[in-house]
Amino acid sequence: MAPSHQIEPIEKASVDELRALQLERLKDVLGRVYDRVPHYRNKFQAAGVHPDDLRTLADLARFPFTTKDDLRANYPFGLFAAPMEEIVRIHASSGTTGKPTVAGYTKADIETWALLMARSLRAAGGSPRDKIHVAYGYGLFTGGLGAHYGGEALGAAVIPVGGGFTERQVQLINDFQPDILMATPSYTLAIADEFETQGLDPRRSSLRVGIFGAEPWSEGMRGEIERRFAIDALDLYGLSEVIGPGVAQELLETKDGLTLWEDHFYPEIIDPETGAPLAEGEAGELVLTTLTKQGMPVIRYRTRDLTRLLPGTARAMRRLDRIKGRSDDMLIIRGVNVFPSQIEAALAREEALSPHYLLELRRPNALDELDVVVELRPALAGGLAVNDIAALERKAEHLVKAYVGVTAKVRAVAPGAIERSQGKAKRVIDLRPKD
Ligand code: DLL
Repeated sequence: MAPSHQIEPIEKASVDELRALQLERLKDVLGRVYDRVPHYRNKFQAAGVHPDDLRTLADLARFPFTTKDDLRANYPFGLFAAPMEEIVRIHASSGTTGKPTVAGYTKADIETWALLMARSLRAAGGSPRDKIHVAYGYGLFTGGLGAHYGGEALGAAVIPVGGGFTERQVQLINDFQPDILMATPSYTLAIADEFETQGLDPRRSSLRVGIFGAEPWSEGMRGEIERRFAIDALDLYGLSEVIGPGVAQELLETKDGLTLWEDHFYPEIIDPETGAPLAEGEAGELVLTTLTKQGMPVIRYRTRDLTRLLPGTARAMRRLDRIKGRSDDMLIIRGVNVFPSQIEAALAREEALSPHYLLELRRPNALDELDVVVELRPALAGGLAVNDIAALERKAEHLVKAYVGVTAKVRAVAPGAIERSQGKAKRVIDLRPKD
């Protein structure tokens, strides 16, 4: 195996080579789940398909989808395709409702994952010379350990800080002088704020690159993080059901969306309403099939993440457009579909507002009402008169109306008034009665 800090031959493969590899691997994985996982065998039989029916990549569309409900119905280990003596790690994702979804990894899966995260880090400009500060949470969440094993496989020095204790994050960045920061974008802003609270300039830190993901974020947020830390901020995508972080990574050289590691994951985009496959370039729900996972392969897993598939640029592998949000995070406000990330992008157009925000939804008299609570920039907050704040709020309301299409009441609040997350930010409080 080539050392993980060098580009892998498959990253230089042509589209034809990739498709041939994907077809071969798809046949393998369909056979594996059919032979080993009763749930898949029953579902395939009910749909009248057999792994031998896959002759071309397009035939995959004949196979049934896998959903979060399938994972829950088989909780905790029913979808494992390897016996427990071969499973060496179990992760879980709590989600907002119901039972967590569980994922099991064999030794080979852990190696694949580390390789993919090492590849992601390298694509983000990382090298064995770097020190990597990991502020993703460690534990059942895949962020911390995923980044950790990848950093080690790259040969970098990993600093396993985990989430929280923001004062200490700043101290460690100052003392250990890391080159790369890995955290959720929202927590990264909390770290930037803490630098300033301590009278330190985050632009003067040792950091060169930040690798951010685990939650939706906007170009406006990228600009904010890049300005405040004077770093390159790159996107990283993944989900525990599929492997964890390291499914797709934005490349430093092109900074044009997430290159999907297609030798290990096969993507489709479908219409989230009908399930019909959509053409490349059309926006819809991302569906992923794992091509190499042993412990818990997933077939046509409906991620609920909304994005587009774009042609490759620096690699033959295709790219994912920035994830707009999850279909289950979509708010329908007086009939208009709204994603929190769109509000974030609209607010980012006003310099006096910070990207710390919260959406509150109510329905006092049959009609939905949206309140956008947003913090003022610390540098400005003290010097603003009541009238200035009111003017800012009206301006932000116009921005939201113009860019998102909904009427909102904006409330500008003091810096620090909105609770900071250490991991995934909670952006929405929906107080509307459930119909
Ligand atoms: O969040 C894995 C991860 C950790 C990815 C660290 C990147 C960095 P889960 O907890 O299972 O796994 O949550 C997965 O988070 O389906 C998306 O909705 C969302 N998500 C992950 N990365 C991004 C991203 C991890 N870059 C769910 N942009 C996914 C937008 C993201 N949303």
